[in-house]
Amino acid sequence: MTTHKSHCLILPYPAQGHINPMLQFSKRLQSKGVKITIATTKSFLKTMQELPNLVSIEAISDGYDDGGRDQAGSFVAYITRFKEVGSDTLAQLIKKLANCGCPVNCIVYDPFLPWAVEVAKNFGLVTAAFFTQNCAVDNIYYHVHKGVIKLPPTKVDEEIIVPGFSTIETLSRIESSDVPSFVVSPEAERILEMLVNQFSNLDKVDWVLINSFYELEKEVIDWMAKIYPIKTVGPTIPSMYLDKRLPDDKEYGLSLFKPMAYECLNWLNRQPINSVVYVSFGSLAKLEADQMEELAWGLRNSNKNFLWVVRSTEESKLPKNFVEELKLTRENKGLVVSWCPQLQVLEHKSIGCFLTHCGWNSTLEAISLGVPMLTMPQWTDQPTNAKLVKDVWEMGVRAKQDDKGIVRREVIEECIKLVMEEEKGKVIRENAKKLKELARNAVDEGGSSDKNIEEFVSKLVTIS
Ligand code: UDX
Repeated sequence: MTTHKSHCLILPYPAQGHINPMLQFSKRLQSKGVKITIATTKSFLKTMQELPNLVSIEAISDGYDDGGRDQAGSFVAYITRFKEVGSDTLAQLIKKLANCGCPVNCIVYDPFLPWAVEVAKNFGLVTAAFFTQNCAVDNIYYHVHKGVIKLPPTKVDEEIIVPGFSTIETLSRIESSDVPSFVVSPEAERILEMLVNQFSNLDKVDWVLINSFYELEKEVIDWMAKIYPIKTVGPTIPSMYLDKRLPDDKEYGLSLFKPMAYECLNWLNRQPINSVVYVSFGSLAKLEADQMEELAWGLRNSNKNFLWVVRSTEESKLPKNFVEELKLTRENKGLVVSWCPQLQVLEHKSIGCFLTHCGWNSTLEAISLGVPMLTMPQWTDQPTNAKLVKDVWEMGVRAKQDDKGIVRREVIEECIKLVMEEEKGKVIRENAKKLKELARNAVDEGGSSDKNIEEFVSKLVTIS
C-alpha cells in the first residue's frame, strides 16, 4: 500500500475545459507520491460519462444538485450560489477527509472559485490557484482588475495598451478584436467581473500554477512572477503523449460527450500523411447556421480530406444532406462525428491542419503535438489565443471574418491551402515542429514545468 506524505484536494470549475487539465495535473502529482482527491459538484458528477479510476472523486454541492448551471439560469446566478453553498460543503469534505489516514494539507482550486481560498485558510491549508488559461490572457484580466485597461473601449478596433508583455510589441498594443471577448462586450460585464475576480484573493495564495510552459511565454511569465508566486506546470497533456517515463496512461481524460467516435481513427489510418484537416470548436461554442454553411462548403471546396466534430446540439445547422453526400464522395473525403478522442486524432500522422476555435486546451494540445493551426476564435479567451498562435508563435493563421462577422468559404479554403501546402505556410509548419519539441522538453525530467512540479511537491512534503 502506498503511504502518502501529503494530500491535495483539487477543486476545478465544473466544465470540460477546466476539469480536464486539472485532472491531468492531478495525475502528475499522484505519480510523484501525492494523494489526490478531486472535489466536484453533484450535478457535474451526473453528467460525467466515465469516471477516472486513478484518482478519487468526492461530491460537493453548488446549490443546484439536479441541473447545475442550466438550472441556475445565468452564469452569474450560478457562480453566486456556488459560493454560498460550495464554501460549506467544501469545508465539510475537508473535515470528512481528516480521518482518511492522510488529511488534506493543500487545496488546488480553479480561480473561477476564489472563495476556496477562505475555506483553505480557515483550515490552515496550503493554497494553490490553478489557472486553466495561459499567462498572456491572465495578464490582460489582471490589468482590467487593476483598472489599467479602461473599459469599455470606445471604438471597435481601438488599440489597447497592456503592460507586462515586455518585448512582445504585437501584444503590448493589442487591438480590441484580439483581447478576450468579455473585455470588449459591455453586455458581458458581469462575466468579466467574475473573471477579474480571479485575482481578488490571489495575494493570499502560496502558489499560482498555470497550464502553460515557460519557454512559450517567457516575457509575460517573468513579468507576472514579480507580482505573484507563479509556476508554469503545463502542458498538462496525458503523459503517454509527451513523457514516456510515466506508467501507461490509457485514460485520456473525462469526456462529457458520448458517443466517442473511436472509429474515426480507422478512417484516419486510411488517409495519407498530413492530408487531413481536423475541425473542432470545443465543448461550448455555438456557430451561427450561416457560419456552419460557409465552413461546410469551405471544407468541401478545399479538396482536402477532413474530420469535423459537430456536437449533436449543433448538427441541425449543417447544410441539408451534407453528411449523406459526403458518404458518396470518392474515398469518403470527409467524416463528421459528434465527439472524438482529440489527442489521438491530433497525434495521428494523417493530420496536417487543425481548424480550431482556439480554446486554450485545444491550442496547447496542438502545440504539444506539433499540428499547425487555422484559427476561428469565437469568444472568451479564444481571440487572444488566436493572436498568440498567429503573431507570437507563428504557428498558424487566423481566418478573417467579413463585416457581418462570418468567415466565408473562400477564406477558409485559402487558409487551409496556405497552412497545408503553400510555400508561405512553410514557416508555420516548421514552427509547429519546434514548439512541439519545446513542450516536450518542458515536461521531461528536469524541464521547466517538471522542475516546478517537483518543487511544489517537495514543499508540500516539508510542510506536512
Ligand atoms: C472552454 C473555453 O471555451 C476555452 O476558450 C477556454 O480556454 C477553456 O474552457 P472549450 O471551448 O471546451 O473550453 O475548449 P478547449 O479549451 O479547447 O477544450 C476542449 C477539450 O475537449 C480539449 O481538451 C479537447 O481535447 C477535448 N475534445 C474536444 C475532445 O476530447 N473531443 C472532441 O471531439 C473535441
